[in-house]
Amino acid sequence: MKLFATLCLLVGGVDSQLYSYQSSVSALLDIGLQIEKVNAALGSSANYTNATLEYESTVGSGLSLRYILNCGQPQLPACTTEPFSTHVSHWFSQDYMHSFVGPILSDATAHSWTLDDDARKELIMKSMVLEGVLMAVQARVQASADTCSNTQTSLRFLDEAWALYSGSLSDGPIRLAEKRAPQFLTEAAIHEDHSAGQSRVNVRLLETFKMMQSLVQSGDCSSLSGTNTPASRIISLTRVPVIQGMLREAFESDPGRRNVTGGADGFIEVVEGWAFTRAVLPAIDACNASVAQTLERNLGNIGLGPAGAHVPDGFDVVLEAVESTYSCLGIRCDDVNAMADPWRTGQTLWEPCTDPTTTTTTQVMETSGSALLLPMLSVPLLALLQA
Ligand SMILES: *[C@@H]1O[C@H](CO)[C@@H](O)[C@H](O)[C@H]1NC(C)=O
Ligand SMILES: *[C@@H]1O[C@H](CO)[C@@H](O)[C@H](O)[C@H]1NC(C)=O
Ligand SMILES: *[C@@H]1O[C@H](CO)[C@@H](O)[C@H](O)[C@H]1NC(C)=O
Ligand SMILES: *[C@@H]1O[C@H](CO)[C@@H](O)[C@H](O)[C@H]1NC(C)=O
Repeated sequence: MKLFATLCLLVGGVDSQLYSYQSSVSALLDIGLQIEKVNAALGSSANYTNATLEYESTVGSGLSLRYILNCGQPQLPACTTEPFSTHVSHWFSQDYMHSFVGPILSDATAHSWTLDDDARKELIMKSMVLEGVLMAVQARVQASADTCSNTQTSLRFLDEAWALYSGSLSDGPIRLAEKRAPQFLTEAAIHEDHSAGQSRVNVRLLETFKMMQSLVQSGDCSSLSGTNTPASRIISLTRVPVIQGMLREAFESDPGRRNVTGGADGFIEVVEGWAFTRAVLPAIDACNASVAQTLERNLGNIGLGPAGAHVPDGFDVVLEAVESTYSCLGIRCDDVNAMADPWRTGQTLWEPCTDPTTTTTTQVMETSGSALLLPMLSVPLLALLQA
């Protein structure tokens, strides 16, 4: 039996029907609750025993945060699914999220670092959500495209991806995009549909998920293969808040820039910066290994402790290196933009890069808003999106 469920979300005060599930996703939504339970266990008096139990706790069909990156079994994405396989090659392990998080859950001196409770919490939560859950989202979106000819399976993968993305409004991936949008002046325009929240990334993700679902339902599999597909656009969009987080922490960890940001105190930003970096480093490495090395050299120094020489090359070098990979990552300079200046309304703390203006094949797909949807839409779908 087809279960037709809709999820009512409350994001930024907006209450509305979002995405129409075509399959049962209750287990996937429960992963969102598990994220919140781990977060609660790491609260003011951290209980790592409890956090570990919740991290390992299985919800329906044997799913858990601990094994969120399982692949290749029936009902799961193939192990060769991108971008999972790129991350596996980078870290030399299919279990890379747990290899990082597991030791931090059990030990304050994991990975030969000295971590206080705040640092452990940031590393556990960010890595679990961004290396674990967000990758499970990305891999399912790609698996949906890869299995398009099997409509039921394809729709289920897509449903599961949205359920994992949006399952926790307080601590899941959808929340990260909401947090970053005002910090980077990347909120959606007034006239856009805000049912997925205020963040431009979330607005476009929901649009693209719905579009992809319609393409699968109408059997239009040719629109889902090749380059510049809805799946690649979704994967790219989900990287935007991660990159924004990485740039923010890099800025705040640079001793030369710290005065500008006021409240930032240094070491926790270094810790958070590395958690963000890890979640996008394999994709950046696949674009340009030298940029990945620049990131490791500048943002990968938790071991040096609070007094260490963090961001040795300075923020500007990090920024330029990261920006040089945007087109390879399928994102635009104005997707990421730059951090808002706390003292000057509407101004940013640095000048973001400028997108090329020449019209190329990729440009059409990467153009913002509904323009991106036009080339591949059938007439009924257009009507649906304009409704
Ligand atoms: C920590 O969590 C475990 C597992 O839930 C529980 O048995 C234990 O009593 C908790 N410890 C404290 C100090 O609350
Ligand atoms: C963790 O702690 C919370 C709050 O004390 C409790 O409700 C929950 O059952 C605990 N989880 C486990 C697995 O013991
Ligand atoms: C922060 O420090 C930099 C480098 O010393 C300086 O150029 C800049 O004016 C300072 N900014 C503020 C807001 O104090
Ligand atoms: C990789 O990035 C470096 C700068 O970090 C640049 O000099 C080099 O040209 C880039 N390589 C490619 C293939 O884009």
